[in-house]
Amino acid sequence: MHSFPELEHVAPIQVDDHEDPFFPPERIPKHAVLSAASLFGPSSCRIPAVDDADHVRYVNRGCMAIGLALEHAGIGANDEVLVPAYHCISMIEPIAWRSARPVFYRIRPDTSADLDDIRSRLTPRTRALLVTHYFGFLQNLEAIRALCDARSIVLIEDCAHAYFGSNGANPVGSIGDYAIASAWKFFPVWDGGVLISHRHDLATVDLQPGNLAYQAKALVNTLEQAFAYRRMRILRLLLQGPLWLKDAMVRRRKAARPTLATPDTGTLSRRLGGWGFDAGLVRRTMSVSSRSLVRRVSRRRIADGRRKNYERMSTALGQLDGCRPLFPALPEGIVPQVFPLLIDAPERVFPVLKKAGVPVIRFGEYLWEGMEPGTCPVSMDLSRRVFQLPCHQELSDSEIEWMLEEVRAAVVRG
Ligand SMILES: Cc1ncc(COP(=O)(O)O)c(C=O)c1O
Repeated sequence: MHSFPELEHVAPIQVDDHEDPFFPPERIPKHAVLSAASLFGPSSCRIPAVDDADHVRYVNRGCMAIGLALEHAGIGANDEVLVPAYHCISMIEPIAWRSARPVFYRIRPDTSADLDDIRSRLTPRTRALLVTHYFGFLQNLEAIRALCDARSIVLIEDCAHAYFGSNGANPVGSIGDYAIASAWKFFPVWDGGVLISHRHDLATVDLQPGNLAYQAKALVNTLEQAFAYRRMRILRLLLQGPLWLKDAMVRRRKAARPTLATPDTGTLSRRLGGWGFDAGLVRRTMSVSSRSLVRRVSRRRIADGRRKNYERMSTALGQLDGCRPLFPALPEGIVPQVFPLLIDAPERVFPVLKKAGVPVIRFGEYLWEGMEPGTCPVSMDLSRRVFQLPCHQELSDSEIEWMLEEVRAAVVRG
């Protein structure tokens, strides 16, 4: 295997409270981190973005946007919301927050929604349908839109993986009554979700900004994520003193905390180490620093960088025995969130990659407890076998090459 001296010293600090107790820190950034290059270059992009819509609200995260969409549509107790069986818990928690009932529908092996199965699960209480554009690959929603129109069902496009893109003439997010997106999955920001609508005025959605401490935390965490992966080194040098002081204060505050075990009242996704739904943050707007970065950073660089990295990974791993890209072709107009790779021996390969510090994710690794186990065998299979590897715009050539070598070694040799 080649050596990658520039990665040798990368032992990223954890800038949030969600350290993984089982595996070493990730050696390359899982999500886009701020770099000087991201601030330059054209902000306009030839590919549409979800926030091109007429009605846009910038919120704390995508899952909060799901809750707000349901609230805006008047969905609540005793209503049923159709959701894909291939899901993560933070997609379902906002439904529980509205006291509505999630009803899980099947997806097909290419991740498209199974319309026949959706039809079979409709009841007089079905009020909304959430459909997900997995990993940035936009689904064809015409038939689903027609069904929703015929049955007066609210269609929510889940664009958490698809901030950019179009499917033929349809820009991302334009078919649903509402669409939600996760800015932090595409932009180098710490917080940020988006609620949009092409059909409804969202001015009445009640939102408030976080306080000064929250604004400072969002900015500092964005910078620290960048510094941890050796970006913006001059700024890091300049801020060394104040950041050292901040760390010392945080350590002191933690040491002063009582050590008595307190019951964990967080939602399930937060207890699983994620950044899931939080009822206390539903009405919080995206932080000022994240909002200005979403406006400022080069969108063309995001779209072009992700597409270029995806193509490179597809070429490198496409012919490897033991795995295959879930979507071998990258259609025109698609901006991938990640590179999803189907692995033949996931239980063997996953810990090998994690131990090597590869930032691999398995979407749907944890499923909503209330879902009947036999609901969708395809989803169960994908949640085990699809590994998401980063392909974001901030990865350097050597970081991608290192990751590809680790994947080849893990898949072939284990
Ligand atoms: C498909 C999907 N929808 C919604 C969400 C929630 O988005 P956020 O993490 O911004 O709250 C996620 C989170 O990963 C997701 O993967």
